[in-house]
Amino acid sequence: MEVQREAHLQATRRKIEEQFSGEGTGHDWHHIARVRALALEIARLEGADLFITEMGALLHDIADHKFHGGDDQAGPREARRWMAEIGVPAHDLERIVDIVHEVTFKGAGVPTPMSTLEGKCVQDADRMDAIGAIGIARAFAYGGSKKRALYDPDWAPELHDSFDQYKSTTAPTINHFYEKLLLLRDRMNTETGKRMAAKRHEYMEGYLDQFYAEWRGER
Ligand code: ADP
Ligand code: NI
Repeated sequence: MEVQREAHLQATRRKIEEQFSGEGTGHDWHHIARVRALALEIARLEGADLFITEMGALLHDIADHKFHGGDDQAGPREARRWMAEIGVPAHDLERIVDIVHEVTFKGAGVPTPMSTLEGKCVQDADRMDAIGAIGIARAFAYGGSKKRALYDPDWAPELHDSFDQYKSTTAPTINHFYEKLLLLRDRMNTETGKRMAAKRHEYMEGYLDQFYAEWRGER
């Protein structure tokens, strides 16, 4: 059992590292590796199953809707196909597929409940990587990849009520702070996640203050 689980983890680590190496929009292997490490840290503190957590973290962006024409079933489908290929037992496979299916942020007004403790750990870790200094870098990298402006003072942020609205925005990247990043602190699932998010949240608030000060021409 344990030996088999370790073999599944190793095969998945190898596949994902290969698949995500060199990606340039902040969804690279290093993002996956940070989410994996942090999800495991949270899972230990929260008493979650480490195999399910690590597999969920490794596979969570496997076929992200943002890069698959908005198809939000592509990730769960690819995760299922991969785990069937390496022989992950059905009850574990279903729990991991659920994580891949549920993890993504879908808009300010759209609840994204995770049905398992392991899923909560993965989602918290993924969200930690969307905030703070790295989160800021990832947002601008992603915005640039979609040819978005940095900022437009005449374009107000929107709090989206549906995943479709959220997915189809072409707003400047600064808007994304109000549409997602600054909302994450209060949407963390675990006590550990809530505690961890506070410092990165404050850092982003300071960053935005500085951004607007420079925009106004302050020295
Ligand atoms: P999620 O599954 O919750 O979308 P990911 O791990 O796929 O999380 O990461 C999404 C990354 O893409 C985040 O760092 C996020 O800031 C960035 N991103 C998504 N949408 C936008 C956007 N409209 N503008 C800028 N960055 C974005
Ligand atoms: Ni991610």
